Amino acid sequence: MSEPAKIAVFISGGGTNLQSLINAAESGKVSGRIVLVISSREDAYGLERARKAGIDTFVYIVKKYSSKDAAHKDLLEMLEQYDVEYIALAGYLKLLPAPLVKRYKSRITNIHPALLPKYGGTGMYGHRVHEAVLASGDKESGATVHLVDEIYDHGRILLQGKVPVKPDDTPDTLAARVLEVEHRIYPEALENLIKGKYN
Ligand code: GRF
Repeated sequence: MSEPAKIAVFISGGGTNLQSLINAAESGKVSGRIVLVISSREDAYGLERARKAGIDTFVYIVKKYSSKDAAHKDLLEMLEQYDVEYIALAGYLKLLPAPLVKRYKSRITNIHPALLPKYGGTGMYGHRVHEAVLASGDKESGATVHLVDEIYDHGRILLQGKVPVKPDDTPDTLAARVLEVEHRIYPEALENLIKGKYN
């Protein structure tokens, strides 16, 4: 049997998607092992989830380095040290450095809480996405797993899951419905990617 794929998950917040990936890796739904969780914030609750699961963590704050180049170099070295093969962004709010995107081409995924290409791009995150969907009058929304390139929410779409938008929805109720779909499709898309189903 081949070795499980080594995955790094990048977070900035609560990490419920991280948790769904941890669970999926532990149960074998994802044929990979999360070897490292990287957070852009020291206080991200997802770090706690990682520690509870016995996963190493790394807080990566570009401003703490003498230069952007030094920061990027350190990040790449960290990923190399852990032999990371796949990167899953899960609520990570920063743009990845271009050399990293190049190095991991077609092996970086992101999850977005809307049906891309609608409601994506710079500044479209968190409740802003759901507010925009509600303002548009769209009857459905959902979640998208896509490959990451140098542009926010732009890479190839791998998998989507839809939910209805209800007349009495608030950004909160819609977000909760979408989040359930996220937790289902992210492990599925990652497994497909690892298994070469998107080649
Ligand atoms: C999710 O809605 C995801 O789609 C977006 O950021 C949020 C992260 O939530 N990219 P969590 O930290 O995984 O709970």
